[in-house]
Amino acid sequence: MNPGPVNVTDKVRDAQLRGDLCHRETEFSDLMRSLRKKLLRAFGIEQEYSAVLITGSGTAALEMAVSSCLTPGRSLLVIQNGVYGERIGKMADVYLMDKHALTYAWGEPPRLEEIEQALKDNPSIEVIAMVHHETTTGLLNPLPEIAELAKQYDKRLVVDCISSLGGDEIDFEKYPIDFAAGTANKCIHGLPGVSFVLHRKKDLCRIKDIPARSVYFHLADHHKAQEQGDTLFTPAIQPHYALDAALDELLEQTVAGRIVHYRKAAKRLRKGFEAIGLELLIPEDQRSNCLTAIKLPDGVSYDWLHDRLKENGFVIYAGQGLFSNKIFRIANMGNIHNEEFDRCLKILKECFITAEKSGK
Ligand SMILES: Cc1ncc(COP(=O)(O)O)c(C=O)c1O
Repeated sequence: MNPGPVNVTDKVRDAQLRGDLCHRETEFSDLMRSLRKKLLRAFGIEQEYSAVLITGSGTAALEMAVSSCLTPGRSLLVIQNGVYGERIGKMADVYLMDKHALTYAWGEPPRLEEIEQALKDNPSIEVIAMVHHETTTGLLNPLPEIAELAKQYDKRLVVDCISSLGGDEIDFEKYPIDFAAGTANKCIHGLPGVSFVLHRKKDLCRIKDIPARSVYFHLADHHKAQEQGDTLFTPAIQPHYALDAALDELLEQTVAGRIVHYRKAAKRLRKGFEAIGLELLIPEDQRSNCLTAIKLPDGVSYDWLHDRLKENGFVIYAGQGLFSNKIFRIANMGNIHNEEFDRCLKILKECFITAEKSGK
């Protein structure tokens, strides 16, 4: 119950065994073409968007979007309220981009009036970059409102949707995102090794004229190669097979259906956490459907809790950085069913009864 790599179905796991394949053969071109189409079809965005695959974890897709999105001489507004927003800021620094950062405490939603003011004060801003579900805390950032501002001020929008795509609602039609970075192994239920950017086709003319800042992460070059059925570098073939099977499952369930499943799962777990007497970090109306951050009760060590759950077959997740001794995180991403959620709650309850008795 960690936020990726997630549990997958046997069908997805077994798909890796489809056999060895050379990526310069037509079989791989066909697979890549089909994956790119299935991604767009799953999110109902075939007309406006193009999907570009990249071998690597979610960060590879995000770095491809960030490093490729900004015209020289213009600046990037980065909204940061957790590890992943701060990572976008770090990418902008590494690529020597002119950056404006709006930084909030971890778990605090960004203030829209401050975003608007930054846009008014800095006409050089061309792109806004943000995280949708900030996995550090389980906070769902206000994407529709920020997308509205981007539209109003004619800015491009880059969104790290790595831990929300397929689990939380994203209305691509009403609130267009110019670059959405996603990965195979979170709410899409594939395996680690392949990630992707969904980008608006109409912005391609702009980005293809931006001088490359990176060899591996150049979005326009990947797009051009993939449109021709080719790939720039050697892809991780087997995770592509697994993604193919995972997308078939997603298309069958539909994204809307998967979001309902995630919402119900999160609700079931949160009800259980509160019944045990645990306190949740993020207010109800700001929570993602995908992960819950829970305050670690006084006197309970995370390592002890982690090990008791692991002995019983559940892997949970620690808090990061300044939250490392304050919270723990339980995700409901992946192929997990109600019986497992209920068994996890039962074990968790037993842990806290033991902890109370023995002062762990
Ligand atoms: C919101 C968000 N962005 C980026 C990442 C990094 O993804 P990866 O570890 O697949 O590179 C994660 C990983 O959990 C994430 O949750």
